[in-house]
Amino acid sequence: MVKVITYGTYDLLHRGHIRLLERAKALGDYLIVGVTADDYDKSRGKINVQQSLMERIEAVRATGLANEIIVEEYEGQKIDDIRRYDIDIFTVGTDWEGQFDYLNEYCKVIYLPRTEGVSSSEIRAEQKKLRLGIVGESPMIKKFVREHEFVNGLEISGIYTKSDAVKADVPKELLKDSFEGILSMSNAVYIISRPEFHYEQVKTALMKDKHVLCESPITNSVKQSKELFELAKERGLVLMDSLKTAFSTAYARLLLLVKAGKIGDVYSVDATCTSLQKTDEYSWNSICAWGPTAMLPVFDILGTNYIDKTIYTHFDESGKDLFTKIDFHYEHAVASIKVGNGVKSEGELIISGTKGYIYVPAPWWKTDYFEVRYENPAENKRYFYQLDGEGIRYELVEFRKAVEIGYSQSYIDYDSSIAFSSITNLSDNRCIVRI
Ligand code: CTP
Repeated sequence: MVKVITYGTYDLLHRGHIRLLERAKALGDYLIVGVTADDYDKSRGKINVQQSLMERIEAVRATGLANEIIVEEYEGQKIDDIRRYDIDIFTVGTDWEGQFDYLNEYCKVIYLPRTEGVSSSEIRAEQKKLRLGIVGESPMIKKFVREHEFVNGLEISGIYTKSDAVKADVPKELLKDSFEGILSMSNAVYIISRPEFHYEQVKTALMKDKHVLCESPITNSVKQSKELFELAKERGLVLMDSLKTAFSTAYARLLLLVKAGKIGDVYSVDATCTSLQKTDEYSWNSICAWGPTAMLPVFDILGTNYIDKTIYTHFDESGKDLFTKIDFHYEHAVASIKVGNGVKSEGELIISGTKGYIYVPAPWWKTDYFEVRYENPAENKRYFYQLDGEGIRYELVEFRKAVEIGYSQSYIDYDSSIAFSSITNLSDNRCIVRI
């Protein structure tokens, strides 16, 4: 019996897939199809896959061509599978030509001509395209322009910025001369202007029926943020916080380990985020630039119902906080954040529990790696998850998905978003100590 194996993602199964499977089957008597697991796809940069693993397996099964279906979960698994299933022929499409020649050592390798004119990426891109306008003065805009290329079904419609530095960094044809102009050519907008402009801009966009991705904090006022979320809900629009860290796989997995009790009961969360950015008229103060990121793990782990807080802050002569430290007091835990835009420190995150602690090295907000550490170092565990594009492309994929399904899948929950707004206007806080 000649045994054949082939692998693929098989997202939104199309005729290219079916033709490949038919020809693979015809190469032998028994066909095994390896369907890639979500995590494996993500680690190799396939971030747009729309269907779940089970849906994709079911679609392959429904073709009736596979005698057996397996899941491909890790790099190098193909060699293991070929040995384990005693495979005679490995085959894939010619888009992989040459890349699996190393398998010739274990079985015969055949590249089958790819069917022209169809691919999962094209199908996803043709589905309703999201036209995203961008407004703001942050250098982050350049990164968004670069990262959107990795997201199927999303294009940048235009950019409205007052910053000459941003203008010089982005394609000229994208530059537009008014916010209204941007809105008229978009169905969604990413707002990364200074926080004091967010309220008016978000409101204007929502009133014109545009979905909004807004750099956290949404506003510096609880009342205004609540009003905007309410308005988005009334009009059936997505209003989502933009906070890249929330979309990193390592951060999401770290939270799951904490919730699953890996380090026992949590008594303390300590997060530091600082930078020495060049300050200009467009730069953000420390608490707005870094506060939401630093507070994210505090609120995700301990919630937003702290009993009390003390804010220590240093304002420079222009009234911007250069450095801020906040101590949160919960019923059975404490937390502290340190943020600085003009003061530098070790950007680490430490979550302390009764069984052990989690340590995320600097810069923890761009994390792809963390350790769970115990009293006995032999029990320590290290975790690594690929992070591409600082999380921006994952965030854009999720925003696009949110617009498509009509709601955001709470990467940053409403309570956290509102809590950010209650803190980032430092002068409104009574519990402040000037240093
Ligand atoms: N395939 C093919 N012809 C196509 C598309 C895919 O023969 N038009 C083959 C691939 O070469 C591979 C298998 O089908 O052997 C599974 O491919 P997969 O990567 O899942 O499909 P794509 O459509 O290429 O997906 P994407 O656009 O996300 O890369």
